[in-house]
Amino acid sequence: MCGIVGYVGKRDAYPILIKGLHRLEYRGYDSAGIAIVNPQGDLNIYKCRGKVFDLEKFTQDKDVSGTAGIAHTRWATHGEPNDVNAHPHYSESRSIALIHNGIIENYAVLKEALVENGYTFQSCTDTEVLVQLIEYIKSTTNCSLFEAVQSALKRVVGAYAIAVVEKGNYDEIIAARKSSPLVVGMGDGEFFLASDATPIIEYTDQVVYINDGEMALINRSKPLKVVNLDNVETRIGIEKLEMSISQLEKGGYPHFMLKEIHEQPKTIVDCIRGRVAADGSNVVLSGVLANKDKFLNARRIIFVACGTSWHAALIGEHIIEDMCRIPVEVEYASEFRYRNPIIYPDDVVIAVSQSGETADTLAAVEVAKQHGAFIFGICNVVGSSIARATDSGAYIHVGPEIGVASTKAFTGQVTVMTMIALTLAKEKGCISQPEFTEVAQGLLALPRLVASALELDKQIKDLSKIFTYAHNFIYLGRGYNYPAAMEGALKLKEISYIHAEGYPAAEMKHGPIALIDSEMPVVVIATANNIYDKTVSNIQEIKARNGRVIAVVSENDTQVKDIADYCITVPEAPECLMPIVVSVPLQLFAYYIAVNKGRDVDQPRNLAKSVTVE
Ligand code: F6R
Repeated sequence: MCGIVGYVGKRDAYPILIKGLHRLEYRGYDSAGIAIVNPQGDLNIYKCRGKVFDLEKFTQDKDVSGTAGIAHTRWATHGEPNDVNAHPHYSESRSIALIHNGIIENYAVLKEALVENGYTFQSCTDTEVLVQLIEYIKSTTNCSLFEAVQSALKRVVGAYAIAVVEKGNYDEIIAARKSSPLVVGMGDGEFFLASDATPIIEYTDQVVYINDGEMALINRSKPLKVVNLDNVETRIGIEKLEMSISQLEKGGYPHFMLKEIHEQPKTIVDCIRGRVAADGSNVVLSGVLANKDKFLNARRIIFVACGTSWHAALIGEHIIEDMCRIPVEVEYASEFRYRNPIIYPDDVVIAVSQSGETADTLAAVEVAKQHGAFIFGICNVVGSSIARATDSGAYIHVGPEIGVASTKAFTGQVTVMTMIALTLAKEKGCISQPEFTEVAQGLLALPRLVASALELDKQIKDLSKIFTYAHNFIYLGRGYNYPAAMEGALKLKEISYIHAEGYPAAEMKHGPIALIDSEMPVVVIATANNIYDKTVSNIQEIKARNGRVIAVVSENDTQVKDIADYCITVPEAPECLMPIVVSVPLQLFAYYIAVNKGRDVDQPRNLAKSVTVE
């Protein structure tokens, strides 16, 4: 979490930094700050609690001149969100300023030693220790700032992406990363620095991704220099960004989340483009085909993921086991990494992550690597840490997802997992051609089906008004629809702050049914499948206890429409693709309830889009 931006060159840094912070606000938005070296060489820091917009107001009457600067938008880990804990942090003599994304785990020990040497601390952050340590090393060893940063980082335990500027030097920014992302944009006599490419794309499409354990010396009149902590220089690989500015704007929608929900017909087209044959006879997923022996000889496939991506993985488990008869396990990355898991060299581990930066998922990848497993990534952000740490992978290609609540990435992930299953099932010879074609044609039809589900927008908006003030919700589903129920509940709770639980419908009677009364809305996904009758019975059980049922049913529904209080009718798709179709009204339902409650839909409290801390 936290977003980092930097600029050094010939233009005014301030507007570039502020615009960049707005782009990165999804990463954290409890406080923001900026450090600029002005033409006289003064190093000015301005920072405050609140959003980037508050920082803009705060700096209105301040000297923000200068062509070199760094800026930060924070998601608090150590120290509450307030003006003092906001980044950048000054060193003791106020000659160095630093911003940081990550956690310095040994900050307490380092701080103690610095206090003994007369250093005083203003904030409660772990970050301030690092800038103080840099100054301490620089002043006691008489080295350059670059050497001091390098030496300080050798003493640090934890994760970081940092940027450092110094009083009197408007030519240079020093940056470094370990387990938190950092990318440098290459301009003409100017450089841009950011946590991801979104603040950079406006100015250049030429970027260099800084690797773990590397430092960058960014001097506006010299070529970019990248070294490791032992000062061994790395060969710089310039990559071209494939991204457009319009993808980063709201395009007339009031929120990114609504835009992203409505983009899904197109993002699914982008996801399957060039991968599914027009007649549904074949699916080509090159990352899987190139490694088909690994997959087909796998002892198990293990998905590792967090949050929404974990829900998608549960659907992936169901599809792959069902179609390919390969055993699949799904793990929370945060649990997997710390519980000494059994991993065999002939396991295939699939890491699922929209951002490609989730710290726990990245760490789970490292654990699996140590055991010799083959690692496959399903990511959205091109060039992200997980995408680069895996042996192979498939991008979901849904474009930048900016709303904190994941929507189009979820449907993209399930789409890719279906393509993986089809590819493997065909290679293994365990699917008949008609069965294969039915699902592949279902993928081709998805954009149309999702577009048709989006036509429910008005109905869902009206329905949301009835339930805006509910205090709790239960979401139920069976089979493929069970992870979809959990995902629907997650969407509601994270943006509306209403407590919601997703459950397998049949588990109701083992406990949660005690919660049912006339105050409890229950969303039941009851689309047509071989356990439809069982789901109908579960609905009867809820109605018998006066629960209020909002049912999501398919077009040909026969029974539920007569017993549910409210029905949302979605088009039919092959069963394994129904979680994608039913997710659309559930996303809209959560969205409109949050809007009715006046919530900050794109930036809900306490959350951040990219969880780069444990
Ligand atoms: C929920 C949501 C989160 C993410 C989770 C993993 O809407 O967005 O639960 O799914 O933080 O993030 P990624 O997929 O980036 O690893």
